[in-house]
Amino acid sequence: DQWFGCSTCHDPETMELRVYQQGFIDSMARRGIDVNNASHNDKRAYVCAQCHNEYYFMKEDGRVNHPFDNGLDAESEYQFYQSGQAGGFTQDWIHADSKAPMLKAQHPEFETWATSVHADAGVTCVDCHMPYMRENGQKYTSHWMTNPLKTTEESCLKCHDESAETLKARVQTIGDNTFKLQRIAGQTVAQAHKTIKAAMDAGATDEQLAESRQLVREAQWYWDWVAAENGMGFHNPDKIMRTLGLSIDKAHQCIEKTNAVVKGSL
Ligand code: HEC
Ligand code: HEC
Ligand code: HEC
Ligand code: HEC
Repeated sequence: DQWFGCSTCHDPETMELRVYQQGFIDSMARRGIDVNNASHNDKRAYVCAQCHNEYYFMKEDGRVNHPFDNGLDAESEYQFYQSGQAGGFTQDWIHADSKAPMLKAQHPEFETWATSVHADAGVTCVDCHMPYMRENGQKYTSHWMTNPLKTTEESCLKCHDESAETLKARVQTIGDNTFKLQRIAGQTVAQAHKTIKAAMDAGATDEQLAESRQLVREAQWYWDWVAAENGMGFHNPDKIMRTLGLSIDKAHQCIEKTNAVVKGSL
């Protein structure tokens, strides 16, 4: 976090916390939340959330916008893109093998955290990532935003009774489980793209493959939502596992559908 200034998070006059990114302010307003009049504790999440989220550029004028209107999870955001709520924006790229119109997820840390056990308990990004530190008897807020396991004592033990070792092992276990399922999802999605490519090579038409391409688009969105999130599951293990489960399911549906197209028509 080197390239932005104090005023991204602090009012330059009063040094109070404030949110600066207009796209985030507008997107949260559509959810009925005025971020700059939120509680002090909520602002301790919003100052980070203004960048650590999923976004896209509006086709009409290039402004940053967020797919938050229907909810803060991968399914609601997908629905936002599918339903035309993103206006002229419909895709980020076309997959080279399957020719499916793809979306690229950014880093949805805010959305992942938003419905977590920690968020429900009022624990914000700042509690873990900007802990209070002590130096020569002085207490200050760490501005080194990095992996909290570098400061487990200050970041976690002010609330948790477990030892630092136990907590680290817990984070590691969540990370291992997430990594394993993320790989399975990634490989299944890759297989789905290949299956479509094989069907194309065998002569299947765009019309016949339209549904398959929608399924792989959705499958990869769920995988990417997790892969692009930087917490490796920790911020919200069950939300992340649900999202990976959806990815694997949609990828299998794609493979089945594509095989049916090939069997039925060629
Ligand atoms: C990414 C957001 C962010 C940026 C950028 C940022 N701060 Fe902070 N700062 C915070 C948060 C969050 C707190 C904790 C405030 C609270 O909860 O009251 C804080 C607290 C402070 C405090 C209060 C004293 C303390 O240690 O708790 C000072 C002073 C401060 N920041 C100075 C700065 C300066 C100077 C810069 C630029 C070099 C800066 N901050 C950049 C988020 C930020
Ligand atoms: C103005 C946008 C912006 C804001 C505000 C912001 N970040 Fe970031 N953050 C980034 C970008 C971009 C990166 C990746 C590039 C980098 O490391 O500079 C990053 C990287 C990080 C990393 C990884 C750093 C590492 O060690 O690799 C952490 C952790 C992080 N941010 C936490 C936070 C927290 C917590 C807050 C709120 C207090 C916050 N960020 C506010 C843009 C932002
Ligand atoms: C309860 C503590 C906690 C809260 C709350 C929390 N994080 Fe984290 N965050 C972590 C831990 C622990 C990791 C490292 C996980 C790992 O290494 O497997 C992490 C990892 C990250 C990373 C990647 C850091 C790296 O080294 O690459 C980013 C970025 C990040 N968090 C941003 C956020 C943002 C933004 C919020 C709020 C919306 C948030 N976190 C809320 C504990 C927390
Ligand atoms: C401000 C207080 C606070 C901080 C800081 C905090 N936690 Fe928590 N944590 C909680 C609360 C409250 C719960 C809810 C369950 C409970 O009451 O123990 C919780 C739950 C958890 C859980 C179980 C999560 C689940 O999904 O069931 C883990 C694991 C955890 N914390 C790890 C950490 C780690 C690692 C850190 C530091 C990076 C950390 N916590 C920092 C308060 C905190």
